[in-house]
Amino acid sequence: MNILAIETSCDETAIAILNCSGTLKSPKFKILKNVISSQIAVHRPFGGVVPNLAKREHIKNLPIVLRQVLGSKVHAYRQAGKSQKLKVDCIAVTVGPGLEPALWTGINFAKELSEKIKKPIIGINHMEAHLYSNWLPKKSLPKKIIFPAVALIVSGGHTILLKMKSITEWERLGETLDDAAGEVFDKVARMLKLPYPGGPEIQKIAGKGNENAIKFPRPLLNLPAKDKNYYNFSFSGLKTSVLYYLRDNPKAKKTDVAASFQKAVIDTLVKKTIHAAQEHKAKSILLCGGVAANKALRDNLQQATNNLQLDFIVPDFQFNTDNAAMIAAAAYINLLSRKKRLAIGAQGNLTI
Ligand code: KG4
Ligand code: ZN
Repeated sequence: MNILAIETSCDETAIAILNCSGTLKSPKFKILKNVISSQIAVHRPFGGVVPNLAKREHIKNLPIVLRQVLGSKVHAYRQAGKSQKLKVDCIAVTVGPGLEPALWTGINFAKELSEKIKKPIIGINHMEAHLYSNWLPKKSLPKKIIFPAVALIVSGGHTILLKMKSITEWERLGETLDDAAGEVFDKVARMLKLPYPGGPEIQKIAGKGNENAIKFPRPLLNLPAKDKNYYNFSFSGLKTSVLYYLRDNPKAKKTDVAASFQKAVIDTLVKKTIHAAQEHKAKSILLCGGVAANKALRDNLQQATNNLQLDFIVPDFQFNTDNAAMIAAAAYINLLSRKKRLAIGAQGNLTI
């Protein structure tokens, strides 16, 4: 079946069409179209995403992106109610979590399209979609994911550690108590006067710095195994340490601060994920979400996973940050499973 997916939860307007086949044990995805229109330039002057601006941009961009996805057949598609080239069987749309004004633009657009082409809509959880980005096609030889697995989802709004029994069954081991990993990258970048989004900017200058130059704290890292926060994360203390360090050392090298900060975040993420994999006898470790685009995080977790002789799974770079291909993949897996369907309305605080 072909699934057309729409993603507007934050600052990317994205639409994709995937051909989906196979079973839950081995779902297969062929990406027919995948278009992302980024709003970074619009939000950059404000140092972060402005919800109402995001809404305005999504409304403007959605028809343009759809036209790019459907190509020259769009007119025929609209008039005949179907495309001669691309047959769409189902429409998937992100319903949460995310910015509600932004989510509604995608949902309303999906509803209109659904009426036009007379195809059903399925509502998708954005975090679940990040998780399922691990099943999207890869440049390297894709590995079959073996369970049990431990998955680390690190995005701008969430930091979640899961233990997975199967592709549709999981248990949440830990999450962030305050700032998410991506959020702390963005906030520290702002302290260093780097533009939004901060993650890629920190990565860039960290590459020129010394990661051992400054000893920043590793929050909640050395807790006893029975502690209730053993698998939880907290990054706001680390953020404050960077703030005080910059205040007390105005001549500090930005590159060293960025590298030492990045190392503190990575150490914490990697060690907790590895502990979880060992305790739960995982066969694979999965990494996903926008922060998974961080090369040092990927390399460190890959190395730690190799040391335990486990499989390391991470999506190709283009599928780490927000995209609609992962929304279509999640829709197909949802359709194959017997999970309760989500309501088609914005749910800003939806959890996984
Ligand atoms: O998953 P995502 O695209 O959007 C959300 O669902 O939040 O994640 C965006 C986050 C931002 O905070 C961004 O700074 C971070 O991912 N990010 C990175 C990198 N690329 C994106 N963080 C660290 N290193 C990167 N290379
Ligand atoms: Zn995301």
